Amino acid sequence: MKVCIIGASGKLGTYMVQHALDRGYEVVGVCRERSVYKLAGFKGRMTVIPGATNNREVIQQAVAGCDGVLTVLVPWGVQQYASGTAQAVLDYAQADARLIFSCGWHITRDGQDLYSRTFKALLKTTTWIGKTLRAVEVDDQVEACRRVFASPTRWTVVRGSDLEEGESQGLPVWSQHVGDPILASNRTRRVDFALFMVAALENDALVHQAPAIVGCLTPSALAHAASLCTPGHMEMADRSSLANQPC
Ligand SMILES: NC(=O)c1ccc[n+]([C@@H]2O[C@H](COP(=O)([O-])OP(=O)(O)OC[C@H]3O[C@@H](n4cnc5c(N)ncnc54)[C@H](OP(=O)(O)O)[C@@H]3O)[C@@H](O)[C@H]2O)c1
Repeated sequence: MKVCIIGASGKLGTYMVQHALDRGYEVVGVCRERSVYKLAGFKGRMTVIPGATNNREVIQQAVAGCDGVLTVLVPWGVQQYASGTAQAVLDYAQADARLIFSCGWHITRDGQDLYSRTFKALLKTTTWIGKTLRAVEVDDQVEACRRVFASPTRWTVVRGSDLEEGESQGLPVWSQHVGDPILASNRTRRVDFALFMVAALENDALVHQAPAIVGCLTPSALAHAASLCTPGHMEMADRSSLANQPC
């Protein structure tokens, strides 16, 4: 499989490069010219195309012939960076390519997510500060995902919880909606966020899904797994929203 990683030099991106190489994929990465040095450790094992991720010509060149595209959606500046990136990927990726996009829990697909007051207040503050400083355009990440959700392509939007560094704990578990008990711990290792993104390339059950993920060893994930493993609670209906719940 040939995959393109857009935003390859960032923290999430470099983890995805490593996971993709571990699976034997051919990897093409896009990152800003000034960040190419961050991929020096992968020299000779991947192709790097320098450029802004919302540069349509760069994306057209990078995704050519790729079976999968992993896109780190980031709303930097006030320049439609996230929506420009998403649109270029949607326009130029092969029609049958698997497209996996990253974002946070704040993105909602169907409006059924339940957010805590703290979460909502933090998001409001971040959005306001980002806009005032013209540094981050949270609304543009929302627009980027709106375009992905409306697209007929084979997309998955992976919605990350709060992130932390550390050794891999394994593939995160997921649910359809923020507010579901399994997600309560709101914590995922960044390396495992990347693992979920890369694993989604070959998981057709995730096509047209927007999984909200959480670390598989977090208290809420473990509590949910334990409840499913209790005799009499093994009905498949209970497990319908879980892609990989251990039991
Ligand atoms: N951080 C969190 O707690 C969190 C939580 C949930 C979800 N997420 C999601 O996870 C994904 C990755 O987030 P992350 O926090 O882990 O960051 P990250 O992987 O370090 O990614 C940041 C990306 O943005 C690029 N970038 C940085 N400054 C830029 C600028 N001024 N202009 C253009 N590009 C710039 C970086 O490229 P360079 O290498 O060129 O700098 C890198 O590709 C995002 O989709 C985010 O929504 C993050």
